[in-house]
Amino acid sequence: DTESKLQLVHTHIRPFPDFPKKGILFRDICPILKDPAALTAVIDLFEEHVRKNHKQVDLIVGLDARGFLFGPLLAQRLGVGFVLVRKKGKLPGTTVSVAYDLEYGKAEAEIQEDAVAPGQKVLLIDDLLATGGTLYAACQLMKKQQAEVLGCMVVIELKELNGTDKLKPSQCFLPNSVL
Ligand code: PRP
Ligand code: ADE
Repeated sequence: DTESKLQLVHTHIRPFPDFPKKGILFRDICPILKDPAALTAVIDLFEEHVRKNHKQVDLIVGLDARGFLFGPLLAQRLGVGFVLVRKKGKLPGTTVSVAYDLEYGKAEAEIQEDAVAPGQKVLLIDDLLATGGTLYAACQLMKKQQAEVLGCMVVIELKELNGTDKLKPSQCFLPNSVL
């Protein structure tokens, strides 16, 4: 059931103090990927959320880099395509970009100009929500291309950073208060 899946995912997140900078408690999701049962559980949680809340989804949009680990698996379950939002300079062809701030730095998000068509309904996915800057930038990219953002999904939310305030609606499975 949902509770046991959440529990399984929860036990597969490793906190690392002072990474990549002093004062940051880094939540490492590598153990989830290493255990097939935990990976299945997390994709099940995403899939159940999407099926319950969204009648029509055209594309899953994943964020560089850890959104790429979960996004394609979810997209395949749903039978829809997957689109990459990358850090600047990685994608060929004509691109559209937006700058943003991170919990520990600055970055620029980019998509291929033809990645989404106007009116397409998209769901964004990443591993973790901190300040929300990354997902917010990705939403801006989607809006620039006139796609319809249905929502944002992450495994972990760092609640004290209030990232969800920027993102409505959003689904976070594990608040840091339980980690
Ligand atoms: C991390 C994380 C999210 C983002 C969350 O990625 O995977 O994408 O930060 O932070 P925010 O909510 O404050 O924007 P990072 O930029 O470190 O890149 P990586 O996935 O390439 O390691
Ligand atoms: N991205 C931003 N903040 C993070 C954190 N504390 N752990 C893992 N990824 C992050």
